[in-house]
Amino acid sequence: MINVLITGNPGQLAQALYHTQHTPHLDLSAIYKSRQELDIAHFKQLRTYLEKNPIHYLVNCAAYTQVDLAETDQANAKTINAIAPGYLASLAKELNFTLLHISTDYVFDGLLVKPLTEDMPTTPTNYYGQTKLAGEQQILAHHTSAYIIRTSWLYSTMGNNFLTRLLNRSSTEEHIHMAYDQLSSPTYALDLAKVIWEIIRLINQNPNLYEPGIYHYANEGVASRYDFAWQVRKRFNLTAEIIAQPFSNFLQGAKRPAYSVLNKEKIKQTFEITVPHWQESLEHCLQHLTHHIL
Ligand SMILES: NC(=O)c1ccc[n+]([C@@H]2O[C@H](COP(=O)([O-])OP(=O)(O)OC[C@H]3O[C@@H](n4cnc5c(N)ncnc54)[C@H](OP(=O)(O)O)[C@@H]3O)[C@@H](O)[C@H]2O)c1
Repeated sequence: MINVLITGNPGQLAQALYHTQHTPHLDLSAIYKSRQELDIAHFKQLRTYLEKNPIHYLVNCAAYTQVDLAETDQANAKTINAIAPGYLASLAKELNFTLLHISTDYVFDGLLVKPLTEDMPTTPTNYYGQTKLAGEQQILAHHTSAYIIRTSWLYSTMGNNFLTRLLNRSSTEEHIHMAYDQLSSPTYALDLAKVIWEIIRLINQNPNLYEPGIYHYANEGVASRYDFAWQVRKRFNLTAEIIAQPFSNFLQGAKRPAYSVLNKEKIKQTFEITVPHWQESLEHCLQHLTHHIL
């Protein structure tokens, strides 16, 4: 039996892991903990819990994800995104479990317009990105068995994300402005969740074969916020108009990279996975949403 602990429940990725946990045909016991049940920013609480409840894998889905708010609420963002991952890595080393941690395309500044590999220079343009990068560095400094997966534009039918916000806005707004020149790869949280389970299955089979470190995962293809919103509007016959605007018009809140397409060759080759195109995955997600609504 493989014991897996998932932090950051009921966030969208934790929920996606919950809904896909039967896909890898693993004999596993997965436990999902909310912030109230297990706060990753409290080292003593974490250690006491993990000593009492030994695990083989910890998937850290807990994070401070409010990108705009992080600019002013810096202390909280730093504690959760930069410091707490170091606690998890330290405990992974001490208590001998493997850590899977999620990071972001926002560690890049978006100035280089070509798919970004894991070893490319990181220069976050906002405080959230700075804290996520610091969290990666904290983990790597412990030289433990830790896999950091950077992803981009995560969405699903659950929680507060680009898709659910768009659907909510479309019921109250007639015109929704979207950038046509902010580019990345929208990533369906269920696809990422399945990949995380597959990575756990493979590492579990052969721990020495898969090098720890940073991996990029996003759906295939490139889209602008406008492309994504337009596709959703078409699929659901939304009445709200999607208006294309230059990214430079969206200056309020935290800065964001204009280009953050992740190169996925390393994860594809290492774990021999195929990655669905964002349009195909969006369709799966919207079908799921339709069945949910009906
Ligand atoms: N969403 C995106 O577009 C995106 C893109 C790239 C990368 N990522 C990364 O993907 C990962 C998963 O994101 P997500 O979209 O699932 O985020 P999410 O829906 O905001 O979920 C994050 C969860 O973490 C919990 N949390 C916050 N502080 C905590 C703490 N100290 N201890 C334990 N739990 C805590 C939150 O609880 P509360 O609600 O109670 O605070 C929430 O349930 C994150 O690492 C994020 O940085 C996300």
